[in-house]
Amino acid sequence: MSAEYILEVKNLKQYFPVTTGFMKTTLLKAVDDVSFSIKPGETLGMVGESGCGKTTVGRSLMHLYHKTGGDVFFDGIKIEKGATLAAFRKRAQIVFQDPYSSLNPRMTVGDIIAEPIDVHRLAASKKDRDARIGELIQMVGLSSEQATRYAHEFSGGQRQRIGIARALASNPDFIVADEPVSALDVSIQAQVINMLEDLQDKLKLAYLLIAHDLSVVKHISNRIAVMYLGKLVELAPANELHRHPAHPYTQALLSAVPIPDPQKSRESKRIMLSGDVPSPLNAPSGCAFRTRCAMAGASCAEAVPPLREIAPGHFAACVKI
Ligand SMILES: Nc1ncnc2c1ncn2[C@@H]1O[C@H](COP(=O)(O)OP(=O)(O)O)[C@@H](O)[C@H]1O
Ligand SMILES: [Mg+2]
Repeated sequence: MSAEYILEVKNLKQYFPVTTGFMKTTLLKAVDDVSFSIKPGETLGMVGESGCGKTTVGRSLMHLYHKTGGDVFFDGIKIEKGATLAAFRKRAQIVFQDPYSSLNPRMTVGDIIAEPIDVHRLAASKKDRDARIGELIQMVGLSSEQATRYAHEFSGGQRQRIGIARALASNPDFIVADEPVSALDVSIQAQVINMLEDLQDKLKLAYLLIAHDLSVVKHISNRIAVMYLGKLVELAPANELHRHPAHPYTQALLSAVPIPDPQKSRESKRIMLSGDVPSPLNAPSGCAFRTRCAMAGASCAEAVPPLREIAPGHFAACVKI
C-alpha cells in the first residue's frame, strides 16, 4: 500500500429523482457534497439520525449507484469504470444493515460466503474453495460444519457473522459496515462489534462504520463524522469529538448517549432533539439544522455554513462556533 489514504471521497453527490406530483419529478439530494478520507487500518465512524444520508454515502462510494457527482479514490487511484472499478470491487466490501434480507435464504452458508471467491475467481480448485470457506467461517466464530446449512436456520447475530465472512472472502483492505448491529439484540451487539475490531487488527482492515447511535461507534472509531440532511456537519478524532463537540447537532446526539456515571449524568446538561429530520425535498435554507437548533439566529438562514477547521483535525460547519 502506497497512498496515505486507502479511501478518499471528494465532493460526493447522490441525487435521486422522485415523483412529487402528477408528471413531476424532483431531485432528492440524499448526499450533497460530502468529502472525507480514511487511512489504511483506520476506522471512521459515521453517525446521524435516520434519513441523514449515511447508507447512501456508503452505497454511493461503493459504486452501487450511478453517482451524481464527485470522485472516489482508492489507494490513490481514481475509481472509474472498467479495470479500476473491478479492482476496487475486490478490495472494498460492504456489510449490510439487515442480515435477514441481505442473505439469500435459498443458498447455503458456504455458497453465500464464497460469492466473492467465485466472482473474482479466487480459488484454483473446489478443494481450495472449500478450505477458504472453512477458514472464513471460523474467522467469524462459526464452525465449518455449518457451511452446508441455509441462512434462514441462523439467528440474527449469526447471520451478520455470515455477512461479515462474505465481506472478508476477497481479502479486502476496506469495509463499509452499514449499521452492522442495529438489527441485532442489544445483548449481542457488543460481541459483533468486538469481533469487527479483532478482525481489523488481524487483517489490517480500514472501516467506514455507520451507526445512528454514537455509543456504537464511540470506542472503535479513530475519527467520527457526523451527518445531517445529506451533509457532513462535524468531523473530528473520536476523543476530541467526545470532549469538545462543536456543532449543536453533535452536542444533541452526544447528550442522547447514556452516561454510565449517575453523578456525571445529573450534572450534564441534556440537549433534547425535538422533531424529526426534515425531508431533503424540503430542506431549510442556509444551515439545514437551524430549524431544530437552540443557537440559531437570522444569519443561519442565509448561507450553508462550510466545514471549517476549528482545531487541528477538527472540522465543523456552524457559523456560531
Ligand atoms: N433509492 C432512493 N430513492 C429515493 N430516495 C432515497 C433513496 N435512498 C435513500 N433515499 C432518501 O435519501 C435520504 C437519505 O437516506 P439514507 O441514506 O437511507 O439515510 P440513513 O442511512 O442516514 O438513514 C432519505 O430522505 C431517503 O428517503
Ligand atoms: Mg441507513
